[in-house]
Amino acid sequence: NQNRVGSSLIEYIVFRDYEIKPWYTSPFPEQINQNKMVYICEYCLKYMTSRYTCLRHQLKCLTFRPPGNEIYRDGKLSVWEIDGRENVIYCQNLCLLAKCFINSKTLYYDVEPFIFYVLTEREEKENNNYQTSPKFHFVGYFSKEKFNSNDYNLSCILTLPIYQRKGYGQFLMEFSYLLSRKESKLGTPEKPLSDLGLLTYRTYWKIKCAEVLLTLRDNAKSESSHEDKGAFQQLTLNDIAKLTGMIPTDVVFGLEQLQVLYRHKTRSLSSLNDFNYILKVGSWNEIENVYRSWSSKKYPVVKYNKLLWEPII
Ligand code: COA
Ligand code: NA
Repeated sequence: NQNRVGSSLIEYIVFRDYEIKPWYTSPFPEQINQNKMVYICEYCLKYMTSRYTCLRHQLKCLTFRPPGNEIYRDGKLSVWEIDGRENVIYCQNLCLLAKCFINSKTLYYDVEPFIFYVLTEREEKENNNYQTSPKFHFVGYFSKEKFNSNDYNLSCILTLPIYQRKGYGQFLMEFSYLLSRKESKLGTPEKPLSDLGLLTYRTYWKIKCAEVLLTLRDNAKSESSHEDKGAFQQLTLNDIAKLTGMIPTDVVFGLEQLQVLYRHKTRSLSSLNDFNYILKVGSWNEIENVYRSWSSKKYPVVKYNKLLWEPII
């Protein structure tokens, strides 16, 4: 109801030094949506309607980082864990910003059941004479429901358009699986996914499956000098699920894209729609190529040992 189509006049969101065009209408308060420009502080995510207010705000907002705890740092990249219950306004503002790029109904005000993981890039200090604290620039985030009876390990994900197609979406996805692994769980994103969400996940699942297959093959090779066929004979979807942290359904998506999975429809009295999957690698070269061409992009990778986080229970 707050998101009537066409109820926003916003043409650009001014974020840091960028003017970003929103893709969809977001339920900002009426007086915000009536402006052509909206100014958002990249640290506290407060939204404002004039450059002057924003400049004045910047003089006061000196934390230069998101709220919450820094639970991961590797080089320039950090991940911050923010509890929707402790930082209500920040998380609501984050959802309003995200809604500018997501065309589905999501929650904006009920943020308390969620935890938010924000990815930042630390700015290299160019001038050592200034003793200012480092600046942690907002790149993107994902949210996660604290308690859910499904395997959901990610509810919503966003990479700001100015940072898209650089591998940060994959980084956030990998991070969500890492948290699930720490909890000894398999995970999957909440459905339905947006088109872009699905495209990005499909790539993620494909690469992860390629990685696991190549690792298994190399292990089999080093263990014996025999043909490596044997190692795959007993391999089940659940095995790959455990190795990747992905639920079996998503493993199927990944393997199918690598064209190594064949469906065998078996008919039995108890279940007429019982699918058996057969894994058969036709060409290791192709899998190597998929994996190599992805690695050669040198996108940021999640380093598991850099995580400073333990599950509560
Ligand atoms: N077109 C085609 N392929 C795409 C794609 C696009 N627009 N975006 C991602 N992919 C695929 C590509 O294979 C890409 O690799 P490449 O860029 O080397 O070709 C791969 O996914 C990795 O993409 P990545 O750079 O990690 O993703 P991203 O940082 O751009 O973030 C989203 C992906 C989904 C988070 C981002 O598009 C976004 O924020 N969209 C709006 C919000 C949304 O829809 N969220 C999901 C639902 S809650
Ligand atoms: Na890219």
